[in-house]
Amino acid sequence: MTYNDRVVRQFTVATVLWGIVGMLVGVLIAAQLWIPALNFDIPWLTYSRLRPLHTNAVIFAFGGCALFATSLYVVQRTCHVRLISDKLAAFVFWGWQLVIVSAAVTLPLGITQSKEYAELEWPIDILIAVVWVAYAVLFLGTIAKRRVSHIYVANWFYAAFIITIALLHIVNNLSIPVSLWKSYPIYTGAVDGMVQWWYGHNAVGFFLTAGFLGMMYYYVPKQAERPVYSYRLSIVHFWALISIYMWAGPHHLQYTSLPDWLQSLGMVFSLILLAPSWGGMINGLMTLSGAWHKLRTDPILKFMIVALSFYGMSTFEGPMMSIKTVNALSHYTDWTIGHVHSGALGWVAMMTIGSLYCMIPRLVGKKEMHSVSAIDLHFWISTIGVVLYIASMWIAGVMQGLMWRAFNEDGTLTYTFIETIAATKPYYAIRLLGGILFTAGMFVMAWNCWRTMAGAKPVEVEAAPPANWDTPAEGAQA
Ligand code: HEM
Ligand code: HEM
Repeated sequence: MTYNDRVVRQFTVATVLWGIVGMLVGVLIAAQLWIPALNFDIPWLTYSRLRPLHTNAVIFAFGGCALFATSLYVVQRTCHVRLISDKLAAFVFWGWQLVIVSAAVTLPLGITQSKEYAELEWPIDILIAVVWVAYAVLFLGTIAKRRVSHIYVANWFYAAFIITIALLHIVNNLSIPVSLWKSYPIYTGAVDGMVQWWYGHNAVGFFLTAGFLGMMYYYVPKQAERPVYSYRLSIVHFWALISIYMWAGPHHLQYTSLPDWLQSLGMVFSLILLAPSWGGMINGLMTLSGAWHKLRTDPILKFMIVALSFYGMSTFEGPMMSIKTVNALSHYTDWTIGHVHSGALGWVAMMTIGSLYCMIPRLVGKKEMHSVSAIDLHFWISTIGVVLYIASMWIAGVMQGLMWRAFNEDGTLTYTFIETIAATKPYYAIRLLGGILFTAGMFVMAWNCWRTMAGAKPVEVEAAPPANWDTPAEGAQA
């Protein structure tokens, strides 16, 4: 029996390509915030249309393809079995690409539900639901057919991500179509807001966190060639994380028309969330104990460790920002944007990049990537890029918040709004530079992937008998 690595290879290539596209759009909108005339007065180049294109492309196309690729690789290796159906796997790949292309066409045309991270209109939403159910059947069906009794913890995280996203997507997108490209949500007012941010926050929790933790639990031990630090902690981490995330959504709606007690509940659960988040980070970092010296020579591990550090940072910052008095300063400012990208670039993108570098050579039967020094170069460019991005946004954000709330003695505002924008401009230029650097790193990666994969004959990997090196948990189970 061999593994189905074809679909993994397809999703891997798609991850790199969509990553470049999504980040290029990010660079363009970053440039537009600095120099607004860069929309050239063309409707589909305006910021309002390109911004959702950026978020959809980086989260669902780049992040999504990375999650598909790695989950389908991991589930086969840890269950010692081939995916249940090659046809279903091909359907999931092409179906998801169709979703991405539909988004890339409709969003610039201005077709949108105007719900953040759920902008796509109802026909595309139905397509997403169908592809997602197929993915769930493929993944969970493969687990059901496994040849080992235990289910490795990475699969728990991937499974939670798959099931929860199905639930969130369907509930938040319930709407009444009035034409082919227009629908209205069935919820109204504050209820609509609450459902939207229950979705939005859990999209962060399950798409951008749980799925990537699944990745972390397989590829970090794999690359470090050590079992995961504590299998027991990983189980506690799993249950604590998924049960707490669900309740934290209202922190996106502090000081709104949502009932006050609900806002406080969101804040309290966000503070509690710090514990499981850091439990996971520590478990990842400590997997390297006794192997720290490898960081000197292995740039792939550097990506992973920096990703875990950013994960720790953003999950410390998030709970702080959910405290009402802190949120009074941070909300509406670029501080939020800094927080988002310390999670999205620092954690999500860096973990993806590290995991792909670890996996790609194995997909084509090679020992390592074509150029290890190119990985090192990529690491440094992207690390400097992230730091420039988030440091500039933190400073700009705190400055904006303080300027907006500054009063003169007679009670009038000290600064006009346009003064705060003028003060922010230099920071937008620095963010743009950070974004350009990060995107440049992705081009280095694309070149390295192409040199590693091109010409190499796709290998048919034998499904290994149970208890082999491919299960990082071996010897470390509670
Ligand atoms: C080269 C890399 C990137 C650049 C230059 C970039 C730039 C931007 C810009 C300019 C915005 C709009 C900010 C605003 O509304 O004021 C934005 C928003 C956003 N980006 Fe990125 N981005 C990059 C990568 C990513 C990645 C990899 C992800 C996710 C995995 C991501 C997720 C988001 C999200 C979720 C938002 C919305 C934030 C919010 O509304 O609070 N970005 N990005
Ligand atoms: C313990 C974990 C976390 C908590 C408690 C948390 C909390 C928060 C808070 C309070 C906000 C600001 C809400 C506002 O004022 O509008 C926020 C925004 C955001 N966070 Fe986090 N965060 C956490 C981790 C993360 C991670 C790891 C990521 C990304 C991978 C992330 C992505 C985002 C995004 C995309 C937004 C912007 C949403 C929007 O308004 O469009 N967060 N988070």
